[in-house]
Order: sequence, then structure tokens, then C-alpha cells
Amino acid sequence: MSDRRISGFKPTGPLQLGNYVGAIRPVVEGQDRPTTVFVADLHALTVPHDPRRLRELSLQVAGLLLAAGVDPARAVLYRQSDLPAHAELHYLLECVASYGEAHRMIQFKEKGGGSGTRLSLLTYPVLMAADILLHDIAEVPVGRDQRQHVELTRDLALRFNERHGPVFTVPRATHPAVAARLADLADPTAKMGKTNTSANGVLFLLDPPDVLRRKVMRAVTDMGGEVAYDPDTKPGVSNLLEILAVATGGDPVRIARDYPNYGTLKSGVADAVIALLEPLQRRYYALTEDDIEEALALGAERAAERADATVRRVREAMGLTSGRRAPAGTRATPETAPAPR
Ligand code: TYM
Repeated sequence: MSDRRISGFKPTGPLQLGNYVGAIRPVVEGQDRPTTVFVADLHALTVPHDPRRLRELSLQVAGLLLAAGVDPARAVLYRQSDLPAHAELHYLLECVASYGEAHRMIQFKEKGGGSGTRLSLLTYPVLMAADILLHDIAEVPVGRDQRQHVELTRDLALRFNERHGPVFTVPRATHPAVAARLADLADPTAKMGKTNTSANGVLFLLDPPDVLRRKVMRAVTDMGGEVAYDPDTKPGVSNLLEILAVATGGDPVRIARDYPNYGTLKSGVADAVIALLEPLQRRYYALTEDDIEEALALGAERAAERADATVRRVREAMGLTSGRRAPAGTRATPETAPAPR
């Protein structure tokens, strides 16, 4: 049984605190198990993009993963587009997935719809399934927003195995106990996201300390002045308590008792986030582009072996050639010769 884990990060904008607590930290903390981490640059093509900016953001995401503690000697860290196997398995799985399944995905409902919507936005969850199924994955540490995609991945793996034989490991999603869906500080009903329309409520990992403090101090809170953890009635304050809990390693319910009012809570959150991100930022700025490219090249080499082997098995199971050319001069045998008409 595989105990392999994988997580991916889409370079559509600079990474933010939700990415860190929802996925980066769980990935880093579990590196004693076989771990694969990748920059999901193909996924960034599903929405309008600028090629130069995409290249920069891909490197930045990889650099931040290294700075956050992804260890290229233990984990496999690579850029998705460096492995053609992702695109190939994506197509093969499109022949297993249905239109209805893709159309039901929340992200398409939220971002898609207009006639200019890229077709790839519809099929993107199938690419995500390919990302995971390429690598014999047991566990996918992600934020809560990705759960539906991992469910689709499971469905496709099970359907494929039933139709074509046991080729895929069936993965499951795991989420952090606290802050599996960090909210936007300026709008606690929305998810904190890299591409939110306003940056005021998003704590980017590379925001300087004064910017982090300003954003936290301006966070939207709730009616009544009491600090208590109750996500339903106090979403703003509960979100701040979750940030504090993940930054200091405590429990949001208990932490609430230490703060007499919203002002002291916000100062505490600002201090904790700055202290959490300061070493990460220092390590990031010490990296050179060559350091990052070198780590990615090493990772791509290591990832390709397993990914190519998976694609070969899938091709064979689906009735295609194995992808290996027969040696020159090989003759058809009675088993391989085409049937007479
Ligand atoms: P992406 O790039 O949007 O986010 C990367 C990871 O960060 C998590 N995350 C959050 N967690 C908690 N609170 C938040 N506010 C928050 N915002 C983001 C996401 O859940 C995710 O784990 N489709 C994926 C990338 C991907 C992938 C994969 C992930 C492509 N292939 C294969 C895992 C396995 C995405 O768009 O993540």
C-alpha cells in the first residue's frame, strides 16, 4: 500500500497565508513520508494570464515552498509543465470522466460561464485528478476548497479500475484540524485567496511586516465586543483566532480567553503572523533563481520516472500501445498481427 502524499500550488498570484496553513505546512510537517510537491503552472492557464508573469510566479511559488521548508533532498519538488505525462494522462482521463461531472464542479460554477471562458477551466479538475493519479498517491493534504476535486479523483480512479483493471491507487484528501478554510480578513464570508479582487483582506507570504500589521488591524470583526470562538455567529473574530492558533500552535477556543477585546486580539494576531513569516521571508530572499531552478530540475527528473511508468500502464490498460516502440525489424507475431479482414 502506498503512503505517498502530493500537493500542488497554482501560480495565479503570490501565495497567501491560506495556502500556507491549508497545505504548505501540512506538506512540510509530513515529509518523513514520501512527498511530492509541484507548481501547478498548467492550471494557471485556465484563466487569462500573462506569460512573463506566469514564469515569474512559478519561480516565486517554488522558492516559497523551499523557504517554507520543503526539502528537495527528501521531497520531490517540480514544475508541472516540465512533465509531459500530466497532459497525456489528463486527456486519457477525459475519456473516463463525463461532461456532467466536470460541469458540477464548484470552481467552474464560480469562475466559468461566459462564452470567453477557457474550455480548460471546465476540464481542470480532470487535470488535477491526473496530477494525483500519476504518482500512486494515498493522501492529498489540501485546504477544504479542494475537497470536491479529490472526490472526483477518487471517482475516476475507481471507475477506471473497474473498467480497465487495477491500475490506480485511490487517494483521499486530508485537511488541517484548524484553518482548513481561512477567510478573507475584509470579508469573513469569502475564502482568503491569491486572486481576491481586493488585497486588503489577504495576508500574502511576502507582505512586509507593516503591511501585514495594517491588514490585520483593519480586519472586519463582528457585533458585540466579546472575543469568542464561534464560526457561525462570529466569523471574523473566529477567523482571527484560527490564524493565531495556527501561528502559535494553540487551540482557538482556549486562546480566546487570553484576549479581553478585539484590539488586543488583533495586535496578538499581527505579532504572531509577523513572527511566523519573518524566517520564511528571510530564507526566500536568500535564494537565487539558480537555486530554485536546480531544485526543480532535480525534482522533475525524479518525478518523471514514476509518472511515465503510470502513463504506460494506463495506455496499455486502455488498449493503446504501451508507448514503447518495438525494436526496428520486429515482425508481427500471430498475437500482434492485425486480424485478417
Ligand atoms: P491553490 O493554488 O488554489 O491552493 C493551493 C493550496 O492552498 C489551499 N488553500 C487554502 N487552505 C485554507 N484556507 C484558504 N483560504 C486557502 N486557500 C488556498 C488549497 O486548498 C490548496 O491545497 N487545484 C489546486 C492545485 C492543484 C492540486 C493538484 C492540489 C492542482 N493539482 C493536485 C493537490 C493535488 C489549487 O488550485 O490550489
